[in-house]
Amino acid sequence: MNNYSVKSKEQKDYYNKTAEKYDQWHVEPNSAKVVDTWNFNNLKKFLKGRKIERCLDLGCGTGRLSNELLEISKEVYGVDQSNEVLKIAKQKYPQLKLSCAEVIKLPYQDNYFDMVIINGSLHHFFAVKETLKESYRVLKPNGVFILLGEPNKQFMKLYNPFFYIWIIDRLLIKLFSKSIAEELIEPDAEKYIPKVLKKQITKTGFDLKQYYTYDYFSRWENEKWLSKYAKYLEWEHKYLAKLFKNLGMAIQCFAIKR
Ligand SMILES: C[S@@+](CC[C@H](N)C(=O)[O-])C[C@H]1O[C@@H](n2cnc3c(N)ncnc32)[C@H](O)[C@@H]1O
Repeated sequence: MNNYSVKSKEQKDYYNKTAEKYDQWHVEPNSAKVVDTWNFNNLKKFLKGRKIERCLDLGCGTGRLSNELLEISKEVYGVDQSNEVLKIAKQKYPQLKLSCAEVIKLPYQDNYFDMVIINGSLHHFFAVKETLKESYRVLKPNGVFILLGEPNKQFMKLYNPFFYIWIIDRLLIKLFSKSIAEELIEPDAEKYIPKVLKKQITKTGFDLKQYYTYDYFSRWENEKWLSKYAKYLEWEHKYLAKLFKNLGMAIQCFAIKR
């Protein structure tokens, strides 16, 4: 078995085994909702009312984003290799068109979608080049390609100011937060050097429109702090992220198929 097969099976086993817990860990915490809302608002701003008839969510999991996408797209398709997460997605959101498949071989014809979106999943695929190629293939010309929340390999560096903000956040949580969500032990996932990932995206043929990073401060469940976090995200995006480019924890990409 090659590296992709080994890693991909590890991921499949993990998500099959933990599917029942997925929403409780990743979707229901208020801190996750703050980030989901921020991401979705940025997506809508980027689309500026552009008409999306058919979109595809890759590595859709239990369908949290796929379902939201129905607000901006007539039809929403989702692909995941884990049967167990898809079972939950089907039950919760019967209107979604879901398929159990691997991202490296999508069961769709060329030029089929107006938008392909990947929310925090690329780093679980272990197949950047293939995923980008498949996304490009199934997208219509001028279609939209979006990546939300992929981990930045350059985040945990002593020269990175965002890293210190993150350390302070963790310390404060340890000291003051009463409801720390269960710490997750997930299988290995990839991290990307922003410049390298950017090159891979443009090399595939995408025209990069926006590319930036932001910080994910997880596990704060206190309402007062969460509203501060939402404000911090805006402030960081407007000022800090421009000053310290591509140093935030998670990478976002908004691109168009040429
Ligand atoms: C971190 S979860 C993200 C789920 C969803 N996008 C969300 O935001 O909640 C990653 C998902 O990618 C799926 N996945 C991992 N490797 C895959 C592959 N090679 N092909 C298809 N899906 C894959 C997993 O089963 C899992 O549901």
